[in-house]
Amino acid sequence: MRHVLTLADLTLAEINRIFAITEDLKQKFAEGVREPLLPGRVAALIFQHPSLRTRASFEALMAHLGGSSIFLGDEAGFKSRESVADFGRVLSEYVDVIVVRAKKHDEVVELAKYCTCPVVNGLTDFAHPCQALGDLFTLRELLGKLAGHKLVSLRGAAAVYTDVWSSMGQEAEREKRLKVFAPYQVNAKLLKHAPRDAYFMHDLPARRGEEVTDEVIDGPRSIVLRQAANRMHAQKGLLVWLLGAKPAAMSKQ
Ligand code: CP
Repeated sequence: MRHVLTLADLTLAEINRIFAITEDLKQKFAEGVREPLLPGRVAALIFQHPSLRTRASFEALMAHLGGSSIFLGDEAGFKSRESVADFGRVLSEYVDVIVVRAKKHDEVVELAKYCTCPVVNGLTDFAHPCQALGDLFTLRELLGKLAGHKLVSLRGAAAVYTDVWSSMGQEAEREKRLKVFAPYQVNAKLLKHAPRDAYFMHDLPARRGEEVTDEVIDGPRSIVLRQAANRMHAQKGLLVWLLGAKPAAMSKQ
């Protein structure tokens, strides 16, 4: 049973395989082809926090692949109505894969222990492997390869990355964080320190005027929309690989 709770759960060879599937299915998607690689398969989507990208992209990709998804919000009772063990064992009887966005990473680790189908972390206070996969796929598309490139070093960086300054339960510290992080706002002045061809990245949602200015996020170096689009493509590659399906063009590999 393979779970993807952090990016470290995947080897480099596995990530390259997932990216090969992603590339193939992204190309087909652009041509209007939706290869039904997961007919009848069901993904459960457990969310303890709000989401646009993660929820909508998983729901859309399961539909593209001929499967379906079940959204489970607070009323499903993850961590509240019954033990995590009972929740995981029961849900695994119904679905083929579980995507979970939880308040605490440990809760996802505990859930995975009891599930008899793969569990994918859809964001915790520790890791966001789906975002990381989409971002790496995006940089690989633009740079041709990842080896040898730096992210956010600011000196010699291929891309400058920022995120909201308070999220995932840190909202009570918002005022304090605004003051502490203010010098790190990614604005035109700060971006001048990066190479002229460095990309600007953000996982979204953004708080414009805080961690990034409009002129940067809407500017020519911004690749935030490509990142958001690639969330769906990379997660499609991940689920097709995790559930053992093979795109027609790759069936002999
Ligand atoms: N980046 C990201 O995970 O977006 P959502 O919170 O909208 O899912």
